[in-house]
Amino acid sequence: MQAKIAPSLLSADFANLQSELARAEAAGADWHHVDVMDGHFVNNITVGVPVVKSLRAISQIPLDVHLMITDPWRHATAFLEAGASVLTFHAETLYMGDAGVLIEQIHAAGAQAGMAINPETNEEILLPWLPQLDMVLVMSVRPGFGGQSFREDVLPKVTRLRGEHGFEGDIQMDGGISRDTIGACAEAGCNVFVAGSALYGAPDMREEIQVFQDRIPWYKERS
Ligand code: DX5
Ligand code: ZN
Repeated sequence: MQAKIAPSLLSADFANLQSELARAEAAGADWHHVDVMDGHFVNNITVGVPVVKSLRAISQIPLDVHLMITDPWRHATAFLEAGASVLTFHAETLYMGDAGVLIEQIHAAGAQAGMAINPETNEEILLPWLPQLDMVLVMSVRPGFGGQSFREDVLPKVTRLRGEHGFEGDIQMDGGISRDTIGACAEAGCNVFVAGSALYGAPDMREEIQVFQDRIPWYKERS
């Protein structure tokens, strides 16, 4: 399993996104995590398609776009054209459309497909689509805001996804990830770690990413 560290731009300085992307890349980030919120699925509004497109033009690494929006079917094309490398939508929006169709559309655009579950949502909702999914995102805070405390009670979902459900794709943990919580996530079976406040807020992001990597028991240096 390859570990990936994805700093969340939600905690970056929005007036200086270009230098913030460069800071994360120089620090050893694997992906940029971009939180898209519509003020409806969650009680916050962040960035949309034009920002993703602008980030794509200057980013040297994949853009991991986390859609916290009620109708991902309506907006997927625009985010894919804007250059999302990984596009993740929420299982709580499944009443709006057919997930299989959306996953196929994401794949047809050459991107990876992810499905996210909120802390209260059971992982079993994902089972019909696991064979098609590249990634599952397990939220460890209530979506909408950075800087919340990690919820340990979500870890058994990861254990079950890897164990009884046999999921071999990426499992991403998002919310409250820090040097103190990353180890338990890695042990449970996560391999993609999103962190906003703990990385963009660190005095030295490079050093903090190295601490993150040191706390992943099975981490191997990339050559
Ligand atoms: C929250 C977002 C997260 C957020 C995490 O809804 O999905 O990506 O940026 O922030 P921290 O790492 O500060 O909890
Ligand atoms: Zn996120």
